Amino acid sequence: MAKVKAPRNRTIQLSDEEKLKFKERLFSIHSKAGKEQVVNKLLTQDFFECADWLPENSVDLLFVDPPYNLTKKFNSVSFREMDFNEYLNWVDGILLKLKRTLKKTASVYFCSDWKSSSAVHLALSKHFKVRNRITWEREKGRGAKKNWKNNTEDVWFATVSDNYVFNVESVKLKKKIIAPYRDENGDPKDWREGSEGNFRLTHPSNIWTDISIPFWSMPENTEHPTQKPEKLLAKLLLASSNVGDVVLDPFAGSGTTLVTAKKLQRNFIGIEKDEYYSMLALKRLELAETQKSIQGYDGEYFYERNSFPQLRRKKI
Ligand SMILES: C[S@@+](CC[C@H](N)C(=O)[O-])C[C@H]1O[C@@H](n2cnc3c(N)ncnc32)[C@H](O)[C@@H]1O
Repeated sequence: MAKVKAPRNRTIQLSDEEKLKFKERLFSIHSKAGKEQVVNKLLTQDFFECADWLPENSVDLLFVDPPYNLTKKFNSVSFREMDFNEYLNWVDGILLKLKRTLKKTASVYFCSDWKSSSAVHLALSKHFKVRNRITWEREKGRGAKKNWKNNTEDVWFATVSDNYVFNVESVKLKKKIIAPYRDENGDPKDWREGSEGNFRLTHPSNIWTDISIPFWSMPENTEHPTQKPEKLLAKLLLASSNVGDVVLDPFAGSGTTLVTAKKLQRNFIGIEKDEYYSMLALKRLELAETQKSIQGYDGEYFYERNSFPQLRRKKI
């Protein structure tokens, strides 16, 4: 039986019946696989076991959100903190295995916290052209007595070559105008008037303060301890892939990348070692057949955190 939840708690859980249903659907590969065998599939197995069997030259966008360099338990999967060079080699090993799966035009996004960020940067620059580091504000974080509260994470952006997709128009941020300035003719300067208020469409920068970590009253929330927000994935997928492209997530967790890819008409390949998280991901993928909205995105523009609530219409 799923745990009893508070009335507004929308956390996705699995009932005993659903556990049986999704367990039957768990899938894995045990030899070289063609694209048709793994596209739009979640493989429930160890990444290091199956990476060499993934099809070559087939991925347009790689999103890697591995365990950060911290001792942590992900349900049945444990990760042990390493020294800097050991973690650097571990990250390098992931990239070495994945490189051959990428198309020449592919983009790579790699997540880290402040501590593992320099290892990720070093490893990425060995294999790819590093183009940027996005820092996003987590909003949640535990205060420290003798340190600054750790409230940000990084996502490194790299590409295989100089020929890559970047759809900047798809990831514009709709920002409220506080001081609407008009030119000598009385026309708005770089902003627009709308029934919902005055706003400006801004180019997305490499610091993101409009993201909320999934929490219990959000419909995307699961029991996964380090779930990424769909809005974060939506920005990366819209900017760095096109409809019909293949997105690979080798540490898929609760399936955020796969679900967002599905909502945005991209294809996906996911890998997750833990069976329970895989089953949660399968449930989210099933829910995404009818629930296509992404919080903070209206199908055209992204919104600042907690802004324009009346505009959260569901176009997609
Ligand atoms: C940081 S979490 C990813 C969270 C995910 N982005 C989400 O939104 O839910 C890392 C995941 O990698 C999985 N993992 C760790 N080692 C793995 C391995 N060797 N192969 C496959 N999955 C692994 C863990 O079980 C965990 O769910």
